[in-house]
Amino acid sequence: MTVRSAPGKVILFGEHAVVYGKPALAVPVNAVKAQAEVTEQADAASGTVRIEAPDAGIDLWLHEMPGDDPLAMAVRLVFAEIGRKPPAALHIRVESDIPLASGMGSSAAVSVAVLRALAAHLGHELPPERASALAFEVEKLHHGTPSGIDNTVVAYEQPVYFIPGSAPRILNVTAAFTLMIGDTGETSATREVVAAVRERWNADPTSMEPVFSEIGSLTDRALRLIEHGEASSLGPLMDRNQALLKKIDVSSTGLERLINAAKQAGALGAKLSGAGRGGVMIALVTPDSSAAVEAALRDAGAVRTIRTEVGA
Ligand code: PMV
Repeated sequence: MTVRSAPGKVILFGEHAVVYGKPALAVPVNAVKAQAEVTEQADAASGTVRIEAPDAGIDLWLHEMPGDDPLAMAVRLVFAEIGRKPPAALHIRVESDIPLASGMGSSAAVSVAVLRALAAHLGHELPPERASALAFEVEKLHHGTPSGIDNTVVAYEQPVYFIPGSAPRILNVTAAFTLMIGDTGETSATREVVAAVRERWNADPTSMEPVFSEIGSLTDRALRLIEHGEASSLGPLMDRNQALLKKIDVSSTGLERLINAAKQAGALGAKLSGAGRGGVMIALVTPDSSAAVEAALRDAGAVRTIRTEVGA
């Protein structure tokens, strides 16, 4: 049996603006993960592949799956990458505890886990840049015009500064910091939120461009703070990024409720993370405020809270 996994992620700064070429910062969340297991499937013809994803209610043979199915595409990409099909029949089982459609990179993590497990089973360890590039192809099926940040952070499993089309810069986090993630429990389709922002941009590029530029400058300032060991000063930049995301109408009542609750409980800054209009928010906390922020998020209706250390 070959098992590989990939973590969840949150975007610290720059979501949406990154679709328009601006930089963004994202970090892996190791407390949640997608995992793929590859075993040999007895009693089936060699070369066939059974794909099982119990959480998604999927248990199908590869040859029965449509060409645009993300799991099927991941499997076919591995065969193309290593230039051969498996000699025996295989069974791929996928599981994930990353909240779905919530801004935590679940689709990218599932792709990376499957790509890695299958390639490794066939004797080929995929390096992060290949896992990321192949997962990017699958992300296009999910999201239409992804920036590439999700597959990058999930495949590299490191905090990254990302500009579309450039190699990612792995962050040198000189002083660790803690984020508290709060899940609104409202799912949101990235594809739809990205399309709504695109519509606004098409209708009024002159008012959208300054918003994206300012988000890009916040991301650059955040990069410097993180690399200089001053992550405790990120709070106001997160609050400003949130105000700009609200301005382009990707926040939601549920997100605002959690963000306000976190701030009132002592978070240094808070914002939505990912596409928005549901999904998760993140709050920058200290050892002193962490428990109070977590309790406040629960009281304000968070269905799940996840504490994650960056750079620990
Ligand atoms: O909702 P997620 O985790 O897929 O994040 C989307 C981030 C966006 O910037 C909104 C889209 C993208 O492709 O970068």
